[in-house]
Amino acid sequence: MKDNLITVGLDIGTTKITTVIGEIAADGSVDIIGEGTVPSEGIKRGAVVNLERTTAAIRNSVAAAERVSGVKVSAAYVSVAGNHTRALTSHGLAAIRRSQEITVADVERSIENARAVPLDPNLEVIHAIPQEYVVDGQEGIKSPVGMHGIRLEVDVHIVAGSAGPLANLRRCVQEAGLQVQGLVLESLASGVAVLDASERDQTVVVIDMGGGTTDVGVFKRGNLSHSACIPIGGDHVTTDLSHILKIPLEEAENVKRKYGAALPELADPDLMLEITNASGSTHAISAFDLSRIIKPRIAEIYGMIRDEIDAALGPVELIAGEVVLTGGGSLLRGVSELARERFRLPVRVGRPRGVGGLTDIVAGPVHAAAVGLVLYGAQQAGINPLAVAKPAPAPVIETVPPTVQPFNDPPPPIIEEQKPISKGTKPQKPPRSNDEKNLMDRMKDFFKDWI
Ligand SMILES: Nc1ncnc2c1ncn2[C@@H]1O[C@H](COP(=O)(O)OP(=O)(O)O)[C@@H](O)[C@H]1O
Ligand SMILES: [Mg+2]
Repeated sequence: MKDNLITVGLDIGTTKITTVIGEIAADGSVDIIGEGTVPSEGIKRGAVVNLERTTAAIRNSVAAAERVSGVKVSAAYVSVAGNHTRALTSHGLAAIRRSQEITVADVERSIENARAVPLDPNLEVIHAIPQEYVVDGQEGIKSPVGMHGIRLEVDVHIVAGSAGPLANLRRCVQEAGLQVQGLVLESLASGVAVLDASERDQTVVVIDMGGGTTDVGVFKRGNLSHSACIPIGGDHVTTDLSHILKIPLEEAENVKRKYGAALPELADPDLMLEITNASGSTHAISAFDLSRIIKPRIAEIYGMIRDEIDAALGPVELIAGEVVLTGGGSLLRGVSELARERFRLPVRVGRPRGVGGLTDIVAGPVHAAAVGLVLYGAQQAGINPLAVAKPAPAPVIETVPPTVQPFNDPPPPIIEEQKPISKGTKPQKPPRSNDEKNLMDRMKDFFKDWI
């Protein structure tokens, strides 16, 4: 009998380094057989800043996963996050000789032509993801091979990273004893793990809320069609609390996880916390006020995501049908509700799905990228794990219905923005009510004959 295929995901985040070992059976089902997580060392905002410490942390994470699985691994798919990545969509064209069918070579030529876009010589292409094809002006074609036509066009989403940081990442993985089978954008890996079949038929924004970065991927019918990395993450919330309350980072992290919320309205209204600062003096703060410190940071991250998507693709509430939050930051109370308010779309928290084995260990959103790397690796080996996906290990939670009401209703109220509190908190952009009013007015005009 043929041996099962072993695929390894190595997710190198700012907070933690996780190795997940997957075993892929002949029927395409994926079992997680090993997991090892260690605190991240030597990584800042998604990029390696200390080779030795990162290498040692990777080695420890891999060894822990090997111990659990009893399998020795030699290669892995590795996540790439960080501000050094760039994304753009490029158009490619291939002429087809008259009366001939479109061949695989023609498709490859159209993709190659799209890839030939001039890039900064310091950038290295990580992904070139073809979107839908256009044959003689007819759009929305998934597989053009065998069709007749004279003009084949394709949009290719290109993700590139700065050569230096990518070389550093590869070096750390190799020195830890693993061959790099592929580098995979963090948001792509997370999307592969958390999106379900129905979400693969629409446009969904996946937001991986990590420690030092927030990685965003827009998936159009299952394809990554836009991506961005926001260099702010959950650790900035912790730093804000530490600065303002004058407490150590570790304590600020505990307070955030236990009592924090991204919407003050969701904090326990009766809870008062006693805070002892570094100089030994004690003061009280309500859970409500604690959350008033947290909200501007999360709102800032969402504002940057909105700006990014609006500029690249158009108003997010028009181009997408849903937002899926994942990564450790998605565990903060109220992040879904604030996202629903800011993006005006249904929001849910996405957890890894489509795997068996150690599902209890990899069930949380913090494991999305690592499990996604394993599933991505399976796809690269020609297996479509989702076709035989097992039920999700944990039920999907927190589906929040959209706030956008019929167009003749007024837009939902925007909860009043507070002034920035800490030095580190950038001033908030003014609320977008004017833009939204314009958008609503435009929509009302458009639909006035229908209503
Ligand atoms: N239960 C929780 N509540 C609030 N925030 C959390 C929780 N668990 C993790 N986080 C936050 O998630 C972030 C780490 O997310 P993770 O996806 O593990 O990061 P990375 O991939 O960057 O290593 C940290 O900022 C951490 O504070
Ligand atoms: Mg991560």
